[in-house]
Amino acid sequence: MKLFDVYPINDINIVKALGSNVWDDKGNKYLDMYGGHAVISIGHTHPNWVKKIEDQLEKIAFYSNSIKIPLQQELADKLGQVSGKNDYQLFLCNSGAEANENALKLASFHNGRKKIVAFKKAFHGRTSLAVAATDNPAIIAPVNETDNVTFLPFNDEESLKAHFEKHGKEVSSVIVEGIQGVGGIRIASKSFLQLIRDLCTEHGSVFIADSVQCGYGRTGKFYSHDYAEVDADIYSMAKGMGNGFPIGAISISPEIAPKHFMLGTTFGGNHLACAAAIAVLEVIEKEQLMENATKIGSYLLSEIKKIPQLQNARGVGLMIGFDVPEELKDLRSHLLNKYKIFTGTSKPNVIRLLPSLALSKSNADLFLEALRKEVTLLSARSKNIPANAEL
Ligand SMILES: Cc1ncc(COP(=O)(O)O)c(C=O)c1O
Repeated sequence: MKLFDVYPINDINIVKALGSNVWDDKGNKYLDMYGGHAVISIGHTHPNWVKKIEDQLEKIAFYSNSIKIPLQQELADKLGQVSGKNDYQLFLCNSGAEANENALKLASFHNGRKKIVAFKKAFHGRTSLAVAATDNPAIIAPVNETDNVTFLPFNDEESLKAHFEKHGKEVSSVIVEGIQGVGGIRIASKSFLQLIRDLCTEHGSVFIADSVQCGYGRTGKFYSHDYAEVDADIYSMAKGMGNGFPIGAISISPEIAPKHFMLGTTFGGNHLACAAAIAVLEVIEKEQLMENATKIGSYLLSEIKKIPQLQNARGVGLMIGFDVPEELKDLRSHLLNKYKIFTGTSKPNVIRLLPSLALSKSNADLFLEALRKEVTLLSARSKNIPANAEL
């Protein structure tokens, strides 16, 4: 049987991982500035995380949501505390798309409306509603097409106001990433998020903060939307939540009341996933990883900004992007193949950094050294001058 070929893949077989490093089957060591797509929050194979999962595995891995699972309450208590939203309610699922799917559906149950506002370049996942709210026609199948979703320009307060003036009473929810990830590290402005809050409150719409990629401490605050000093009605999360163990969730405002069977899942909130997620929160707290994300993130960003050939370096904490000009287009592949450094990308020309929140200063320096060196080499090549020539 063949694998269904949907991913363009690098010919690399990773067999071991620790902290911010991974090793391939030939013994090559890599620096992971991509965090396996923003998933590795506390570091690969963190010993506390491994131990917690192993201990749980020996007790029970799974039983259905028809019985009490105290680990779910323990996770909810810890998440409420670390995220600063103790009065919110937790619904557990398995992935980011599923979290957004449930958020959009719950909003519609809550206010009985159908219309969704999403933004240009947004990515919310690949399931039916999540993909319909994703601004990429190439991944929307005909069956997912709907006129219930309106895409407005990101950070454009006037068009948002105009839309609400006309259609406010029909809007079920507004879904927005605090920092667009797939869209190329585009930061929602504080005043834009505040306006979303105000308009949703005024019109009875639900503010959904997609925190799947930008959340879980990556920006130095638990949810990147926290920088706007407003509360969303629902936060969706996944990636960093399990440090690689599949788990997703929505954190739901006390204003939204649950009803039996309105949401549900077989695997969501299973014993093993809860154990992994509790370990992640414990480590984030104990090792002060949000503080580390702020510190190392601002260091990385300020150093990248000093490299004149790289354009529009931007980001918050350890969610950083910069534009790569055409003459440096091989930069990302060279970082991987010559320097053994994984980075992320966004079309058409953005390099995205999404490393573990535990990234050390020395690993940040290793990356910066390789980046400076390769940018110099590629710039020289594009001008046809030897890289070591006196300029
Ligand atoms: C902002 C955002 N939302 C949702 C998703 C979907 O998450 P998943 O791939 O776990 O379904 C992603 C994945 O990249 C994402 O970046």
